[in-house]
Amino acid sequence: MAIERTFSMIKPDATKRNLTGAITAKLEEAGLSVVASKRVWMSLRQAEAFYAVHKERPFFGELTEFMASGPTVVQVLEGENAVAKNREVMGATNPADAAEGTIRKEFALSIGENSVHGSDAAETAAEEMAFWFAGNEIVG
Ligand code: CMP
Repeated sequence: MAIERTFSMIKPDATKRNLTGAITAKLEEAGLSVVASKRVWMSLRQAEAFYAVHKERPFFGELTEFMASGPTVVQVLEGENAVAKNREVMGATNPADAAEGTIRKEFALSIGENSVHGSDAAETAAEEMAFWFAGNEIVG
């Protein structure tokens, strides 16, 4: 499996609890390298654009208001099989279903305040990285 990149976010519930380092450590322990990182306070409009794929879902308003409620750390991760590896380390979307040792099992508060986001496929990863980073901000 080739080295690939994926996109990750440490969400406002986690930054508020000072968990940026603890979550990043779990990603690094899993063999992923942080090749881009910045802390942003996204606007509601940015949250709506980023999560546009979910705009018909009943939780869209709750999701976007939450994402605009405080700082988020947006990151690009690099490593072998990075998309799948990151999803494995994050655990299931709903922390009640997340496996032991995963980020969401350890840190997430609820399905909405679930501490992290990770791209679900290589194509989505490319779009999500491009949403937040210029090419020269990603340094592997
Ligand atoms: P994420 O990986 O960021 O992708 C979409 C997000 O929508 C998801 O994580 C959850 O935080 C959120 N989400 C999914 N289902 C629900 C739900 N039923 N209620 C609130 N938020 C949800």
